[in-house]
Amino acid sequence: MFHVKPSDNASPNNDFGMDTPLARELADLSTRRKALKTIEVQFSGETRVFTVSNQKGGVGKTTTAVNLASALADLGAKVLVIDLDPQGNASTALGVKHSADTKSIYDVLINDLPFSEIVQDSPESENLRCAPSTIHLAGAEIELVSQVAREFRLRRALEEFLRDDPVDFVIIDCPPSLGLLTINAFTAASEVLIPIQCEYYALEGLSQLLGSIQMIQKHLNPELHLSTILLTMYDARTRLAQQVAEEVRTHFPQQVLNAVIPRSVRVSEAPSFGQTVISYDGTSAGAVAYREAAVEIAQRKESAAQNKGA
Ligand SMILES: Nc1ncnc2c1ncn2[C@@H]1O[C@H](COP(=O)(O)OP(=O)(O)O)[C@@H](O)[C@H]1O
Ligand SMILES: [Mg+2]
Repeated sequence: MFHVKPSDNASPNNDFGMDTPLARELADLSTRRKALKTIEVQFSGETRVFTVSNQKGGVGKTTTAVNLASALADLGAKVLVIDLDPQGNASTALGVKHSADTKSIYDVLINDLPFSEIVQDSPESENLRCAPSTIHLAGAEIELVSQVAREFRLRRALEEFLRDDPVDFVIIDCPPSLGLLTINAFTAASEVLIPIQCEYYALEGLSQLLGSIQMIQKHLNPELHLSTILLTMYDARTRLAQQVAEEVRTHFPQQVLNAVIPRSVRVSEAPSFGQTVISYDGTSAGAVAYREAAVEIAQRKESAAQNKGA
């Protein structure tokens, strides 16, 4: 048996753990939490439409889409998430129904149903809604080919919805391919957000994605631009993660957010509870990082608007 005298732990001279990396990390996290509490963000009423894209799977697109959406909603923004991936992971994380018989984004794209008939409230926040995806969307890639204005179906439907029911942010979660679904996202959005995983081959395929964005700009949507890059799944202990982050910052100094999302178990387990990490464990390192990213995104536009006015 071990006996620990209570006084050992209570001793003011006991500096156990005070100067370990973990203790420093926790102290840092609590400072960042406090800083976040003091921040107030104003929203201009202008709708910003983001598409979260990267043709690689498993890089954190969906995780970023839902967590940023929830963090922005928490800041007071009205947010609509459009789940454009047949896997429906964003719908799951936002706790909205998306079984095969649910009216979904598929019906908007293929059956001309208005957004207002498919949008659901997310239990995450009263400011957050989601246009769910269902398994039917897997066939939409083919079915869209024969549709009139096949590249603009999402844009048209979204514009109609926003006229009656404006929001501050629309965040579109894309599938990991550059097919017609992603093209619909690119014509509906003006800002592209690319999550980059701080691991091997992070930049592989990026030039192809940038090329696609340029093509869309030239032929379908002149407003589209890469506005934001978010480094995700960062593991500060590895030299590799630091190198990837440095390399991305060198290439894209304007676009990369200061906030970096750490690799965190809390982030990856939240969806299995039908939640984002913001509601699942809002004070965890992953949630704090997504909140910081949301503040930066909101403030960047604020300062851009101020510069324009000046
Ligand atoms: N910051 C993170 N820490 C730990 N796991 C993460 C993190 N971000 C994403 N993941 C996990 O990585 C996997 C892929 O993420 P996901 O967002 O689904 O990628 P994508 O939408 O690009 O395919 C998921 O299992 C997710 O839970
Ligand atoms: Mg996904």
